[in-house]
Amino acid sequence: MKIDLAVLGRQFELYQEEYEAAALRVLRSGWYVLGPEVESFEQAFAAYVGRKYCIGVGSGLDALTLSVRALGIGAGDEVIVPANTYIATVLAITANGATPVFVEPDDCFTLDAARIEAAITPKTRAIMVVHLYGQAAQMDAICRIAKAHGLRLVEDCAQSHGAKFSGTMTGAFGDAGCFSFYPTKNLGAFGDAGAVVTDDEELAGTLRMLRNYGSEKKYHNTRRAPGRTAPYEARPSR
Ligand SMILES: Cc1ncc(COP(=O)(O)O)c(C=O)c1O
Repeated sequence: MKIDLAVLGRQFELYQEEYEAAALRVLRSGWYVLGPEVESFEQAFAAYVGRKYCIGVGSGLDALTLSVRALGIGAGDEVIVPANTYIATVLAITANGATPVFVEPDDCFTLDAARIEAAITPKTRAIMVVHLYGQAAQMDAICRIAKAHGLRLVEDCAQSHGAKFSGTMTGAFGDAGCFSFYPTKNLGAFGDAGAVVTDDEELAGTLRMLRNYGSEKKYHNTRRAPGRTAPYEARPSR
């Protein structure tokens, strides 16, 4: 017997009227990037996960890549990551010039906390934990290790919307919780979408700039590109 894994058309039919009404509302509003619809989703999703801020981005990969960048992790830095994950987790590290350090998973296919400390070096800056197949990683032990070694903690929650560890939502443990809303995910969009949740106001502000060409104010693009050591300087006009 053939069992279809993801039949998106069938899901659409279940809530067709609401989806169509929402799509028409957006089309008629004339506001197609960010804006009030995204803001209202960000507020609702932050509350759902139990975090202060949510920053909508283009995809799960963008959520991870921009989080690594916003935390100031780049060339010369190492990030611990489970050896068993989707490629996007690793691309987010290498896209910033940092080096992924692979650690074997446990019996639940998530990062094995017992093997993390052996992988820590003076270059380690962060642990990127992945809650794979809807299963939360061992967040009590992993948070303890991150704290003890002064490491940043990024959660890849692309496959774990709504999953909890000891009553706390995945995405609510680390400096940043990164979600994908790819159509086949637990919460799927009609296209690519993603979000980062955090309690860190400064990180949230940096992420809002990074998702928007490094800009906080229109045409003022003040964030440095990754790898640059000095801020941009205006060239003298000829
Ligand atoms: C574990 C994991 N991380 C990251 C991603 C990337 O998400 P997206 O496809 O929205 O870029 C996915 C989804 O494909 C994923 O399963």
